[in-house]
Amino acid sequence: MTEMTVDWQRVDEVIARWAPKGRAGLLPCLEEVQEITGWLSPEVSRRVAAGLKVPLADVFGVITFYSLLYERPVGRVIVRVCDDVSCFVNGSREVVQACRTYLGIEPGETTPDGMFTLETHPCLGRCERAPFLMVNDEEYGPVRGEDVPRILDAWKERVRSE
Ligand code: FES
Repeated sequence: MTEMTVDWQRVDEVIARWAPKGRAGLLPCLEEVQEITGWLSPEVSRRVAAGLKVPLADVFGVITFYSLLYERPVGRVIVRVCDDVSCFVNGSREVVQACRTYLGIEPGETTPDGMFTLETHPCLGRCERAPFLMVNDEEYGPVRGEDVPRILDAWKERVRSE
């Protein structure tokens, strides 16, 4: 999502709601704002800093620290493959490979049409479902490489019909 399409009114409503919490409201505020804007641009960060009356450096610090906050545009669908120990020993490499093949991109990249971003992550806290995959907020696991095209085909359909 670009700056041009940001719904500033909704963003400002979220900021106003968290403003009384100050620094303590920073993380939840950024998460909620990101749900509206798709990613946290410098302009969005400045607005949050001003609204919550915290230094801009604190905002950038939180964005950098939390891997689920984005300071660059990402696809509408974020594919997160866990590649930590439990998932690795249960075959996450095959899942990553299947995602790379299906999407034609490397982890950390976004497809040219802006639909998918592929990421690998440390433990996502679902080791009992290893190898574990998240697509936006939906969870899949255990997943095999051969499951990946079916899962991502369904997401393609879903995005196109929105
Ligand atoms: S190691 Fe993959 S979810 Fe914990």
